[in-house]
Amino acid sequence: QRVVTLWILSKSSAMKRLLLLLLCVSIVKSQFDYDEEPGVGARGHRPLDKRWEATPTLRPAPPPISGGGYRARPSQPQASHLKKLERKAPDAGGCLHADPNMGVLCPTGCVLQDTLVKQERNIKTTVRDLGNEVDELSQSTSTSFQYVGTLKELWAKKQKQTIDNQNAVNGFSSELEKHQIYIQETVNTHIPNNLRVLRSILENLRSKIQKLESDVSAQMDYCRNPCSVSCNIPVVSGKECEEIIRKGGDTSEMYLIQPEGFAKPYKVYCDMKTENGGWTVIQNRQDGSVDFGRKWDAYKKGFGNIAINEDAKKYCGLPGEYWLGNDKISHFTKMGPTELLIEMEDWKGDKVKAHYGGFTVQNEANKYQISVSKYKGTAGNALMDGASQLVGENRTMTIHNGMFFSTYDRDNDGWVTADLSKQCSKEDGGGWWYNRCHSANPNGRYYWGGHYSWDMAKHGTDDGVVWMNWKGSWYSLKKMSMKIRPFFPQQ
Ligand SMILES: *[C@@H]1O[C@H](CO)[C@@H](O)[C@H](O)[C@H]1NC(C)=O
Repeated sequence: QRVVTLWILSKSSAMKRLLLLLLCVSIVKSQFDYDEEPGVGARGHRPLDKRWEATPTLRPAPPPISGGGYRARPSQPQASHLKKLERKAPDAGGCLHADPNMGVLCPTGCVLQDTLVKQERNIKTTVRDLGNEVDELSQSTSTSFQYVGTLKELWAKKQKQTIDNQNAVNGFSSELEKHQIYIQETVNTHIPNNLRVLRSILENLRSKIQKLESDVSAQMDYCRNPCSVSCNIPVVSGKECEEIIRKGGDTSEMYLIQPEGFAKPYKVYCDMKTENGGWTVIQNRQDGSVDFGRKWDAYKKGFGNIAINEDAKKYCGLPGEYWLGNDKISHFTKMGPTELLIEMEDWKGDKVKAHYGGFTVQNEANKYQISVSKYKGTAGNALMDGASQLVGENRTMTIHNGMFFSTYDRDNDGWVTADLSKQCSKEDGGGWWYNRCHSANPNGRYYWGGHYSWDMAKHGTDDGVVWMNWKGSWYSLKKMSMKIRPFFPQQ
């Protein structure tokens, strides 16, 4: 019974917590049910103080690499004649990150394990107590049996003895008989009955503990390799996703990139469906599971989770949240003319995109300077024109084209002031090609639900996953992804 009570208790407290959570969610939701922006106007820029500061000048950007490159690919990839995509078993743990040092996403399994271990402890003591009680009972039962045995002997003797004085003894005998019957009944029915019940309870608990123990050991196995996802990687690889799709890899999933030269192969998510496929995903946000407020070195090498299993499938069909890494991105864009596709989605499911026909990122020595060209799309040309809500110099200072890359520990932004604490990357949450500071902030902080306000932000600035030209400063997008592909003439 104690176990049951415990069970109910723990259940009801979980229930309470759930209700509380639901309440919080509904409060937060109802706060944002109105359509006005809860923040204040446009905030991407840092207004100029003319008394102290010189007007910022735009950094000249070398135009993106153009000419040469890939020939157009026929609209249907010739993959169809190739047999079903071959996959090989995962090496060391399967679908890990491109770099094992990258950020990890701990599975909720570890939490479950904790709970299981705690519950097991409770049940163990209860079972021990029960065991003791059963022992006591069975002892008292055996004493009773002995007693009955003695009584039987006594009775037999008495019967012999009382042949002569039957009448005198009759009363006593019948009394004895009564006692004997009573005791027999008690011993044979009640106590064994109780024992049986206790035994079955014990058995029940034992099997429950067995199940818990196997669950715990399964969880421990699972937690031994935290955050690794098991998936088979297609055998086909290439120096980029475009080459992979040309070799027949036509499903969107995680592939191995084999860079030219002697560089180590690494994993990446290839989008083989969007606009004819062949896209190498260099950035992805979708659930806030990865922290993007990272240092220079992290952005240089890349971080996050490349891909995860799609439901029951054995391969990694869904992208994770990650930044591929500035060195890799720079290398890709230097191989030839490259196009960039930025896709985004709000919390209602509306989608827009920004497409740049030219995209080049310089190397680390040149602070990963970005250049983009040939915009088309529905999101607004934030990278080249700055925030559409702003005018004049305020707008100019939110243009990203030509900017260096900045992280909170390496300030290369366009906000040049005497106050060294004023750094865009510190205020706006991510690593990015900040100017003074941004019109687009794809690596910003992830806010659940979309609308947020200055008092929720760490520094009072619009540090969300922002694309000002679409949703303004105070709306953090649900999804944002950046993918690149060698530029080739479209059919
Ligand atoms: C720039 O923005 C500030 C406030 O954010 C405003 O006071 C100023 O007038 C703006 N300048 C221009 C040229 O619009």
